[in-house]
Amino acid sequence: MTPVKPTILVTGGAGYIGSHAVLALINAGYEVIVLDNLVYGHRDLVEKVLKVELIIGDICDRPLLDKLFASRSIAAVMHFSAYAYVGESVTDPAKYYRNNVIGTITLLEAMIAASIKQFVFSSTCATYGVPHTVPITEEHSQNPINPYGATKLMVERILQDFDIAYGLKSVCFRYFNAAGADPTGLLGEDHNPETHLLPLVLMAALGKRDSVSVFGSDYPTPDGTCIRDYIHVTDLADAHILGLKYLLKGGNTNIFNLGNGQGFSVKEAIDTARAVTGREIKVVMSDRRPGDPPMLVGSSDKARNILGWEPKYPALKEILTHAWHWHQQRHTH
Ligand SMILES: NC(=O)c1ccc[n+]([C@@H]2O[C@H](COP(=O)([O-])OP(=O)(O)OC[C@H]3O[C@@H](n4cnc5c(N)ncnc54)[C@H](O)[C@@H]3O)[C@@H](O)[C@H]2O)c1
Repeated sequence: MTPVKPTILVTGGAGYIGSHAVLALINAGYEVIVLDNLVYGHRDLVEKVLKVELIIGDICDRPLLDKLFASRSIAAVMHFSAYAYVGESVTDPAKYYRNNVIGTITLLEAMIAASIKQFVFSSTCATYGVPHTVPITEEHSQNPINPYGATKLMVERILQDFDIAYGLKSVCFRYFNAAGADPTGLLGEDHNPETHLLPLVLMAALGKRDSVSVFGSDYPTPDGTCIRDYIHVTDLADAHILGLKYLLKGGNTNIFNLGNGQGFSVKEAIDTARAVTGREIKVVMSDRRPGDPPMLVGSSDKARNILGWEPKYPALKEILTHAWHWHQQRHTH
């Protein structure tokens, strides 16, 4: 008899990182249900490309969650849905606390009521704030400097408390800068609005934007521009499979950074994009933005040691090559 594949609920599975995690889950042999309200997600990616069940609904909708958990046998939840625009979180924090914190509590309470006790959560390096040491380890102090980071830190704390009180086991992944696209070209990044550097640079290379703004060239870094840690989205997705397996085998609540361990400056990223695309990319130098730390680079030794995670695509050139293929097919037709 063929063993029944565990079913995993992926919230935010129509979004950038969630859709790559769905692909990794399918490839690892899991059944997947996506729950996404499509505020930012892409229906076509779930239904036509990934071909998995999509429930169009909101994590804040408790009756919907109760019905879903009562009708399906769900082994674990991977939770990607959130609002993630740092600037908007400053101007409209209520929207962020409601969706990212209250929404997550609603989801967790529905899980607990249905005795689903395994949870994988998308946290962020934004919970660290401005680091005092790099590479940043999981023990680094957490002082988020914007409401977005604060919402994620609150959920991390809630998860610790829910483990003690309700036995809910979780893995929190603190991502650094997610980047790239599925190497086979099925999926990629399509945020609207887009605020991340690499897709903006590639949109400029495609002629969909006039230029790219570089905020600050007088940072204490070798070329004066900020240094960031770009991690391939497929490597992030693979880590989620390892985190899920760890929990399903009875692993304890844990927190892991997911980064490349190497930093690339904004200037290096743009130069690499010029080399990969063979196109000119116009750059507009601007002033520093408040709250941008000069250098954000993570240590992922813990994920390597405990989960056995190893990024397959650490080279920025490869990250950009995959993203470029995706952008060309997504935005030129
Ligand atoms: N992109 C990054 O570099 C990065 C870095 C650190 C952490 N994260 C976190 O990773 C997660 C995924 O990020 P992403 O870049 O894929 O974002 P995304 O916007 O592409 O995906 C989020 C998805 O969640 C859905 N969603 C939002 N609110 C919802 C709700 N209330 N109910 C149901 N669905 C809802 C959206 O429609 C979207 O499809 C987020 O939690 C984000 O905070 C992302």
